[in-house]
Amino acid sequence: MFAGETVARSTYARLGIKYSSSRPTTPRFTVPLRIPPELRPVRRDEATDHYEIAQKEAFVEILPGQRTKIWGYEGMFPGPTIRALRGRKVVVRHSNQLKTHTAVHLHGGVTAAQFDGFPTDTIMPGESRSYEYLNRGCGTTLWYHDHAMDHTGRNIYMGLVGLYLIADKREGALNLPSDEYDIPLLLQCHSFGEDGRIEYHAGPAGRMGAYGDTILVNGAPWPRLDVGARKYRFRILNASNARAFRLSLNSGRPLVQIATDGGLLPAPVKCDSISIAMAERVEIVLDFSEYPIGSRVTLQNQEGKGALGDIMQFEVAREERDDSSLPEKLIDVPKLDVQSSVRERRFDFGGTPFLGFTFGVWTINGKRFDAETPLAQVRYGDVEVWHLRNRGFGPLSMLHPIHIHLGHFQILERNRRAPLPWERGWKDTISLQPHEDAKVIMKFDGYRGRYLIHCHNLEHEDHSMMARFDVV
Ligand code: C2O
Ligand code: CU
Ligand code: CU
Repeated sequence: MFAGETVARSTYARLGIKYSSSRPTTPRFTVPLRIPPELRPVRRDEATDHYEIAQKEAFVEILPGQRTKIWGYEGMFPGPTIRALRGRKVVVRHSNQLKTHTAVHLHGGVTAAQFDGFPTDTIMPGESRSYEYLNRGCGTTLWYHDHAMDHTGRNIYMGLVGLYLIADKREGALNLPSDEYDIPLLLQCHSFGEDGRIEYHAGPAGRMGAYGDTILVNGAPWPRLDVGARKYRFRILNASNARAFRLSLNSGRPLVQIATDGGLLPAPVKCDSISIAMAERVEIVLDFSEYPIGSRVTLQNQEGKGALGDIMQFEVAREERDDSSLPEKLIDVPKLDVQSSVRERRFDFGGTPFLGFTFGVWTINGKRFDAETPLAQVRYGDVEVWHLRNRGFGPLSMLHPIHIHLGHFQILERNRRAPLPWERGWKDTISLQPHEDAKVIMKFDGYRGRYLIHCHNLEHEDHSMMARFDVV
């Protein structure tokens, strides 16, 4: 179990706070996996696809036979997938039909500051707002989610999350599994009441993290999927508020990773297991032709015990033709050179200790989030090295996945060693266990304006482990 969850569990127990669902667990591997539908543009012109999304309350079936109230993009849980084309502009007009303020962030996007979903750039109930995305980067699995000041954790837990894929025509030549063999898996972890209601527990003063005890994939508990005996591409996103996973297969076969947060790797990497903290993305290719028809293959979570150790199951149901390939070489990923960096900055992720029963706050460089004051000012076009350190101590030793808005970085070193095998590509989020530190390198050539660096444990983010930085 990750340090964070152990700490959360024991703290909850000490304070007598309910940690998990008050309902019995759902049977595993019975609910079929659903794939979120693609959103259709309301209009296309020469250079732009226009979309409209209503943020609204709805009742959906998450647990078999029960109705659960959610807040969803288009009333769906998760929201509809937006499929963008590299180089083609997308405009999404969001209208807030909820009773609470919202803000929309495209996670992993290189987005102009006024469209980046800064937490105080809110959409009030009854209002709407348009967001523009140029999609200039490479092919990637991004996601859009709520980013409202102080309430991101609750809003995402209630369902305000969806996928945003950028398709890159240049990828076509690789002939990776595509169409119905290219499947997103959005992982979450929720708690439910006996009546099916979402129970949002985030620990003392709501500041530890909402762990949940029911694993959801694309909004279904521990689902199953019938597959053909061929290759599939899975785009895995950890959209949990606070739970990190370590993925593996019960067959003992390796996972073949082809992409990170920021797109394809130079070459596929075989890993026995892959850690995926909150907000990270990992893409893998699984070849079910390695198994006899009728086999069941479970995607597991090595970080979890009991039901939390399982994620979903595949059943190899039929022979199937496979024209796709898994090339030895994928794309060129240019390396950012440390020599080109003009500055090194340090960001320490910590907090103030417990004061009696008043839980402290999470901080960056000892400061709480201040929307008005940038913690760093970066010159447009510069390359910088950022040294990120998790300063865990005592009850505040928790996992912090650190996310930087605006662009993608490369990890130079983790604990003064090479990065882990599954994080050697473009990243926008890096997971740091207590006392870990890492150096990342980034070029700030996207836009000028105000952006964010924050922990993606959403309750840490809401309780001030976030900082503004400006590109000037
Ligand atoms: Cu995915 Cu600032 O967030
Ligand atoms: Cu982001
Ligand atoms: Cu954190």
